[in-house]
Amino acid sequence: MISEKAKNISPSITLEIGGKVKTMIANGEKITNLTLGEPDFFTPSKAKLAGIKAITDNLTKYDLSSGNLELRKAICEKLESENNIKYTPDQIVASNGAKHAITNAAFAVINPGDEVIIPVPCWVSYPEIVKLAGGVPVLVPTKKENSFKMTVEDAQKYITEKTKMVILTNPNNPTGAVFTKDELLSICEYFTKKGIIIMSDEIYESITFDFDFVSVASLSKEIYDNTIIINGFSKCASMTGWRLGYSACNTEIAKSIASIQSHMTAHPSTISQQAGIVALRECKDDVLTMKNTYKQRRDYIVDFFKNWGKLEIIYPQGAFYAFIDISPLKDKLNSDKLSLKFCNDILDKEKLALVPGAGFFEDDFVRLSYAASMEEIKDGLEKIKHYVENL
Ligand SMILES: Cc1ncc(COP(=O)(O)O)c(C=O)c1O
Repeated sequence: MISEKAKNISPSITLEIGGKVKTMIANGEKITNLTLGEPDFFTPSKAKLAGIKAITDNLTKYDLSSGNLELRKAICEKLESENNIKYTPDQIVASNGAKHAITNAAFAVINPGDEVIIPVPCWVSYPEIVKLAGGVPVLVPTKKENSFKMTVEDAQKYITEKTKMVILTNPNNPTGAVFTKDELLSICEYFTKKGIIIMSDEIYESITFDFDFVSVASLSKEIYDNTIIINGFSKCASMTGWRLGYSACNTEIAKSIASIQSHMTAHPSTISQQAGIVALRECKDDVLTMKNTYKQRRDYIVDFFKNWGKLEIIYPQGAFYAFIDISPLKDKLNSDKLSLKFCNDILDKEKLALVPGAGFFEDDFVRLSYAASMEEIKDGLEKIKHYVENL
């Protein structure tokens, strides 16, 4: 009954823990939940009001399938003023979230059997999206010592004649690492020279703490032509439920993305698109406030692990995740599924929910999301300490 394509999709390893957390909460247990991949802020008021106004103004009919023109103009303004890259609206396609933009782009460029380089640890959906598009995900291990940021050396041995695309995530989920301009230039020049398309997922770009974010497409004219930028409103403007994202790329690929989208979903909700315009043009202060709050939490977490000294984290420079190295606990936990064992155990004993690194293809780590209140974060950190010290 089920297609080979659907059968080929792996269920999320993190669902097991997620299901358990939901059941425990439903049973009335109090859980400190640091698993969430979405901001703990409300959507900025001005954006919300723009959504309400869109309804009362009857902006509730079909629009252009690549997205509302004013929204695409606002995206171009943002890319020019914040990222120093010039695009025209015909290079932009607004989609139902960044996940949808990634899927559209994968369908636009991947032929059956094409290989796609994905540095791991990585966000769970990339390999499955690549498979759905008929491609072959090639997972490339990276080094902990380099905060899991892929280098040319890491990638080289995985390049074949079939390599069509590479997916970069900057800032990174799950590691929180951010590429410097030099690191980015080195790998992007390499892939561009080889004619391998770069898909750069920049959805966490507004949440960087230590140096200015650099968009891949701003690096050089050649890299710009070779890159599909993915971005969206879920993380920067706390608009996860509005389902709004976009791609920016050369007109040839953009046309193909628009054509695919026109047959699959047409365009994102007109209401969300009106909210998106206002989020881009009028909510910069809200975005900054959120970033500053994440930074305070990040600093607290970094200090906690430094002072405690028993476990280490990848130094988080962006997004809202701390990736915790649990490899020193291998002997004590004695499991070939280390991160699952850790997460199950700490959930049972301490009522703390974290995401096992195995879900991101890195079993020696677990992910803590600090898209949560300071109180919950402090509570979660104390629970980790208590659990580890009593193993
Ligand atoms: C790296 C990365 N890309 C894309 C997405 C999807 O974002 P959206 O809500 O816009 O589909 C997420 C969500 O967790 C993510 O972490």
